[in-house]
Amino acid sequence: MAPNPGAAAAAKEHGGMVSTKHGIVVLDFGGQYTQLIARRIREQQVFSAILPCTASVAEIRAQEPVGIVLSGGPSSVYDKDAPVCDPKTLELGVPVLGICYGMQWLAHSLGGKVEPANRREYGRAQLDIACQSKLFAGVPAQLSVWNSHGDHVVGLPSGFHVTARTDNAVAAVENPASRFYGVEFHPEVNHTERGTDILRNFVFAVCGAKQNWNRAGFIAETVEAIRKQSQGARAICGLSGGVDSTVAAALVHRAMGDRLTNVFVDTGLLRRDEFRDTLELLRDRLGLNVIGVDASERFLTKLAGVTDPEQKRKIIGSEFIAVFAEEQRKLLAGAQAGLPVKFLVQGTLYPDVIESVSVKGPSAVIKSHHNVGGLPKDMPFALIEPLRDLFKDEVRQIGRELGLPEEILVKQPFPGPGLAVRLLGAITREKLETLRGADAVVVEEIRRAGLYEKTWQAFAVLLPVQSVGVMGDGRTYADTIAVRVVDSLDAMTADWTRLPMEVLERISVRIVNEVPGVNRVVYDISSKPPSTIEWE
Ligand code: XMP
Repeated sequence: MAPNPGAAAAAKEHGGMVSTKHGIVVLDFGGQYTQLIARRIREQQVFSAILPCTASVAEIRAQEPVGIVLSGGPSSVYDKDAPVCDPKTLELGVPVLGICYGMQWLAHSLGGKVEPANRREYGRAQLDIACQSKLFAGVPAQLSVWNSHGDHVVGLPSGFHVTARTDNAVAAVENPASRFYGVEFHPEVNHTERGTDILRNFVFAVCGAKQNWNRAGFIAETVEAIRKQSQGARAICGLSGGVDSTVAAALVHRAMGDRLTNVFVDTGLLRRDEFRDTLELLRDRLGLNVIGVDASERFLTKLAGVTDPEQKRKIIGSEFIAVFAEEQRKLLAGAQAGLPVKFLVQGTLYPDVIESVSVKGPSAVIKSHHNVGGLPKDMPFALIEPLRDLFKDEVRQIGRELGLPEEILVKQPFPGPGLAVRLLGAITREKLETLRGADAVVVEEIRRAGLYEKTWQAFAVLLPVQSVGVMGDGRTYADTIAVRVVDSLDAMTADWTRLPMEVLERISVRIVNEVPGVNRVVYDISSKPPSTIEWE
């Protein structure tokens, strides 16, 4: 959401300032920790935007950054397709911190030398700080740091000197006159001792950033910007009952009042009782203006016989838009008929945006998330996405600040395409009932074990696999349920949850006893990567 002068004034009243400028730009070279760098910086109340390394100098300048971080990445600077950024980035006059590949690229592009190391460094190493540096101010002379690199810098560009080493390699370099810094290790990961202090030193001592990224400021700025953008028009918000869309709706409601109509669609692919319970909560407890649309028939008809996961997602994306367009037509015919319904509000988050503008281009798109990639091109709406700049934990904090009930804020994520991507193969009403029954057991048992808020997601998947079993002395040939429970911080990476055996046992026994047509339960022990959280 672009800040504007009106927003600045409004934000000031709340003790915050316009927040998305004057932060740190992180240029992404495809590193696995790029998002973490941005989060760590934001935790310091300084805004941080991730741009692909291919961003133009004009795009970078538009952010008015006070500093630039060059992320890590899997390549070697000598690879044929090695990612590079425009060398003019180094002429913007702002401090630069290169991390891992970022440091190698920095050194290489300024005339230094990078080589494959004799001994590659992965994991823990001891860092010896060799001399005074703003970057290492206030941290001990020896630190345990986290490395992940095969190449290292062997020749320094002119004006640079070494500030830290590990046994094996040059670990940090700088040219303080030009305010260029490089570290071979990853200060953003928890395993690096005092890593946050090192990043803080860069952000505050080197770049002189101001702490202008805070909740109250963000809310005031966003509400003001939406108010301006939406003057003389109405908007529809697609609610899913999850954290993101509810927070988005609450924010837009502040800006637009009853010019916002929320639509909650029963796709026929929701969890058990979800439609009824959520509608009640949104309407009666939050006082939002919500229309509940039962569109299950049309979704299930369009999905009949479809087995390809991407096709399922595309169908669902376009059916959603068709339903919203229909509601738009009804609104146009009803009260406030003079006001056009121009906007669609979505709870798109920063990780969704970044995942869809991958550094590597379209080939790296793994799934079309319906609220970003799967939208049809000829949509009759302009988008309002007030959470586009936020990570999930920031959205929860904004929701808290807006006074939303905790029960919504701690809700586990549920994908837009719903049970369609958890029911493998063709979707039928009967199979959906089986999946709902099993899913309800998983969630109930996870809650009962006190794990609902400790795990990222817990759900059931219905596999297109029948197997032989025996129940009450008779042979069965019935369905298989996979149970998926994962720990994650932001869904970019995830690990399967080491559930207590008793919980696994209860889940398994209850599913087989209570859900007709299931005789086998398996536990998914795959992490992301290489798997994804959802099965389709
Ligand atoms: P994957 O399966 O890609 O999922 O590891 C990452 C996170 O995103 C959720 N997810 C979606 N959310 N629309 C959404 O709003 C979608 O199409 C979608 N697909 C996956 C998933 O539940 C997990 O939290």
